[in-house]
Amino acid sequence: MSQLAVYLSRDPAPAQWGDSALVSFDAERIFIHLHKDDSLRTIRKAARLLDSVTGRDLLLSGKWQADQQWAFATSFGSVRKPAKIKWCQDEHAAHLQKMYEALVFTRNLINETPQNLSPELLAARVTSWLKELGGDAISATRIVGEDLVKAGWMGIWEVGRGSDRPPVFLEVDYNPSGLSTAPVAAALVGKGITFDSGGYSIKASEGMLTMKCDMGGAATVAGALGLAISQGLNKRVKLFLCCAENLISGHAYKLGDIITYKNGTTVEVVNTDAEGRLVLADGLLAAGETGAHTIIDAATLTGAAMTAVGSDFHALFALDKDYQTHAMAVANEELEPVWPLPLEKWHQEACPSPYADTANSRAVKGGGAGGASNAAGFLSRFVPRDGAGWLHFDLAAAFNNSATNLYPAGATGLGIRTIARLLHEAE
Ligand code: BES
Ligand code: MN
Ligand code: ZN
Repeated sequence: MSQLAVYLSRDPAPAQWGDSALVSFDAERIFIHLHKDDSLRTIRKAARLLDSVTGRDLLLSGKWQADQQWAFATSFGSVRKPAKIKWCQDEHAAHLQKMYEALVFTRNLINETPQNLSPELLAARVTSWLKELGGDAISATRIVGEDLVKAGWMGIWEVGRGSDRPPVFLEVDYNPSGLSTAPVAAALVGKGITFDSGGYSIKASEGMLTMKCDMGGAATVAGALGLAISQGLNKRVKLFLCCAENLISGHAYKLGDIITYKNGTTVEVVNTDAEGRLVLADGLLAAGETGAHTIIDAATLTGAAMTAVGSDFHALFALDKDYQTHAMAVANEELEPVWPLPLEKWHQEACPSPYADTANSRAVKGGGAGGASNAAGFLSRFVPRDGAGWLHFDLAAAFNNSATNLYPAGATGLGIRTIARLLHEAE
């Protein structure tokens, strides 16, 4: 099929389209009219409109800034009809294409049917994509099933043992120097719950429907690392993905179970649906063991974060307020809306248990008031240096089950650009 050229216009649409028309077209050209409002949001809306009226490949033509091209390309297209867009042939094209390839990887992984993405397949897809990008600088090890118990990674094991498809702890080492003594500049940790039924604290059907997205954190940090590598990242980074399927069976974990972590912390499971923090605790402990001064985790961790910031922002938590402020500025420049939510050291004490050092939640619906902060407080028990250099992204904007006026249905991929930039800056 032939390509259709898309132009940005400062003029109103021809009279027959009406004065306020956002888009107009003739046989070979589409025009987006920005005379009233030239925000990126308007360009996204135009992309969604066009997505409903044309299935043709698009050629961005005339004058577009890089941000405008990105906004258009990431809002056009859909899961069943992926966008084919040709960038303006200018100095931005190569850069945009790298970002777009990482975005497509992240989105496709999140949108994958959960039956086709067991914890082992999630680990395999991430590893092979990173090897394509990083070649010999990439090595990976995975700990699968009962080997997790031997290694002491009890959170991932406990959450994953209810499924017939075993849980996996994936560690990817990107070490461009090749020296085994090279210091690790940054460690990334991702929640890789390939499906979250809630376990015995079972979710209602409507809430469970979207839970293939619960490996969104893993897909986002993997996408960010791949993007940074394709941009020439020249320092060592470790990636830890905590992969498990949270299901119900005769061998699943139960309420009242107590998990003992490597750092000695004991956790009483009062809600099997607060499983993300249980697997991330292992990932954060492993991240701490690397000695990295930058530790970034990403997770579709709480419904409470979505209640607080909506699904147009990711929520960002940190004890290190200077680093949080800096990350917010980076996110803003990278066109990825992020909003801060409260986290103080005392949030660690928010989920008390009479039987263990802490519970994994409060035993009320959704974790109760401040649930996203309490989840972050739980995580903070497992990070080194009182949280210096640590960021926790609760990915409220990762996924929309239906198309919005800005994004196609499914994964948004938001977060990869910000985290990639933070990797370039890490030392
Ligand atoms: N994966 C969910 C969080 C989630 C909900 C992500 C909706 C995206 C959309 C997480 O594992 C979960 O179930 N969290 C519980 C925590 C509660 C039991 C303390 C929640 O948010 O209800
Ligand atoms: Mn859950
Ligand atoms: Zn979950």
